[in-house]
Amino acid sequence: MLWTKKDLLGLEYLSKEEIELILETAESFKEVTTREIKKVPALRGKTVVNLFYEPSTRTRVSFEVAAKRLSADVINIAVETSSVRKGETLIDTGKNIQALKADILVVRHNCSGAPALLARSLAINVVNAGDGWHEHPTQALLDIFTLKEKLGRIEGLRVVIVGDIAHSRVCRSNIWGLSKLGAKVTVCAPEMLIPPGIGEMGAAVTCDIDEALKDADAVNVLRMQFERDEPTAFPEQLEYFKNYGITEERLKRVKRNIIVMHPGPINRGVEIASVVADGQNSVILEQVTNGIAVRMAVLFLVAQANEAKG
Ligand code: CP
Repeated sequence: MLWTKKDLLGLEYLSKEEIELILETAESFKEVTTREIKKVPALRGKTVVNLFYEPSTRTRVSFEVAAKRLSADVINIAVETSSVRKGETLIDTGKNIQALKADILVVRHNCSGAPALLARSLAINVVNAGDGWHEHPTQALLDIFTLKEKLGRIEGLRVVIVGDIAHSRVCRSNIWGLSKLGAKVTVCAPEMLIPPGIGEMGAAVTCDIDEALKDADAVNVLRMQFERDEPTAFPEQLEYFKNYGITEERLKRVKRNIIVMHPGPINRGVEIASVVADGQNSVILEQVTNGIAVRMAVLFLVAQANEAKG
């Protein structure tokens, strides 16, 4: 199958076959990351710009590492010290980056739809590195890649996503991606953190974590995004940990080999116990490592779309 999309904006807009192509491409790039010289010339001569309007550790660094492993030049723009502070609009910033001859723009923004707006306004490739509460497609792709690596398949798996569903772009992208590949997704949170319409996306919805975890093959644990809303939008932390926290005690009652995932950053003792985050069921740091291969695949494929057009 040939990749034809100029941009990666969300898993909602990809077919099952396109998601599978990204995962297969990531598999071959993962092999590259195990070589002594972890570099291929696939994007030599191309320039990747990382434009992040929100803080990031994992996503920004792994896009940079991914681009460098593909031999691209990489520019990181720190929005705090850019002309955004002087009032430059998102589209003007994007058009100037394009005028500076960038080939791929990786953007994270607090507003849902910001990468789509840039993609419509620019000829260069745009990759969504997380927009508001909308989507974080490369995070879901690396979550799915890690699950497939651990369990050998996605079809038929039972995956629970627990935590701050209301504010989570990771959750939305995971629901789209996992459902398209045939997994059964259940989202779990106290009622105040379950947004309207989430059930219509294809996930089962429950407020009972122990019930949700009963037959689960994997649990993806989300942090409270306190920065996104009024304090009254969140449950009390100790109460939340008692009722929803992923603890050793809770895991004793579920499948022994359940996979524990977390997109990070972790709030230890709020949504997950330290002993679980660092324990044998946890694949949290493997997710981070897999982010490199997955982002290499995404950068490689969107760049190919331009070449196909000529
Ligand atoms: N998972 C994730 O998006 O982490 P960062 O915010 O550190 O990029």
